[in-house]
Amino acid sequence: MKMLGIFLVASVSLVLVNGLENGLARTPPMGWMHWERFRCIIDCDLYPDDCVSEQLFRKMADLLVSEGYLAAGYEYIIVDDCWMSKHRDKEGRLQSDPIRFPSGIKALADYVHSKGLKFGLYEDYGNYTCKGYPGILGHLETDAKTFAEWDVDYVKLDGCYSDYNKLEEGYAEFGRLLNKTGRPMVYSCSWPAYQEPLGIHVSKDTWSNVTNILRWFSKNQNRIAAYAGPGHWNDPDMLIIGNYALSYEQSKAQMAIWAILAAPLIMSNDLRNIEPKFKEILLNKDIIAINQDPLGIQGLLVKTVKNIDIWIKPILPFTEGSYSYAVAFISNRVDGYAYRISVPLKDVGLNHTKGYRVEVSIYSPFTAYRSVKVL
Ligand code: GLA
Repeated sequence: MKMLGIFLVASVSLVLVNGLENGLARTPPMGWMHWERFRCIIDCDLYPDDCVSEQLFRKMADLLVSEGYLAAGYEYIIVDDCWMSKHRDKEGRLQSDPIRFPSGIKALADYVHSKGLKFGLYEDYGNYTCKGYPGILGHLETDAKTFAEWDVDYVKLDGCYSDYNKLEEGYAEFGRLLNKTGRPMVYSCSWPAYQEPLGIHVSKDTWSNVTNILRWFSKNQNRIAAYAGPGHWNDPDMLIIGNYALSYEQSKAQMAIWAILAAPLIMSNDLRNIEPKFKEILLNKDIIAINQDPLGIQGLLVKTVKNIDIWIKPILPFTEGSYSYAVAFISNRVDGYAYRISVPLKDVGLNHTKGYRVEVSIYSPFTAYRSVKVL
């Protein structure tokens, strides 16, 4: 199987829809989140190095900085599920697990901030989180205030143990309460994943999970793409590059498509132990620049030839009355040969009369052609 990311240049118009605006996330958020790699490992006796604990997050914060991830744009460190005590305190406030987070969440946020990073935290719009810790229902205002007091910069709000018919309204209400605190926080909402019949929230460290997400995104692109733009993004879930499941080529494909989709680039891997070739993908400046393009347009699947998908995203610079474009080729083939396809640019909507200057990313092994050719 061969997956490629190739990027070139060209014009188009777009429609953007504005969400609740707090000035954050002008480009897709980038960071690290523990879930895909560290799940709900809470037995620190058995797994002292991998349990969900303040040490783990401090270490990952250190590595985000020392290994060049922050410099590449990965700035949020996000604590997912299983950070809490099973019980609220006497005032009904959330509290962290006393054994695994003895210094408390505010101290962890302070540490993260001291490294020049931003801090994210998980909760759930339900009676419980997906792993059975206290959800926010019945405590919305208190929890929004608590997050602000703890200096949280990013809230991931999951949707387990909730009434799916109330999610739309409930998430909006919590968003208003977060805004009311006066602290700008990125608000990452999982509710669409719970309402969609396909249930793309089943996150797993597998290639088929990545392709299922891609299939869902392409199938629904006409409905959802317009909702992406500065301040509000569609989230196909975490980057699992550097973990157990994805090959090198599959890892390149995930990074290329997440860039084209203007998706949040939230890694979930073990930064202590990541092969250089995977790290190189995650730090690839060309691909990150496509993802972070200021226009913030979500790319689309425009054509499939011989089971090879062609995805296109309008980007800057804007010249001769035309945007430029990033183009990615993703092969869905599993029959083991590096097939050739030849696609005239006009067939994928690139029909500027002056033609295009083609820049091929170092991401792909190909040199530049006048038209696009893929092996
Ligand atoms: C759901 C979400 C995951 C993760 C877990 C935590 O499955 O999709 O991303 O947050 O809950 O329990």
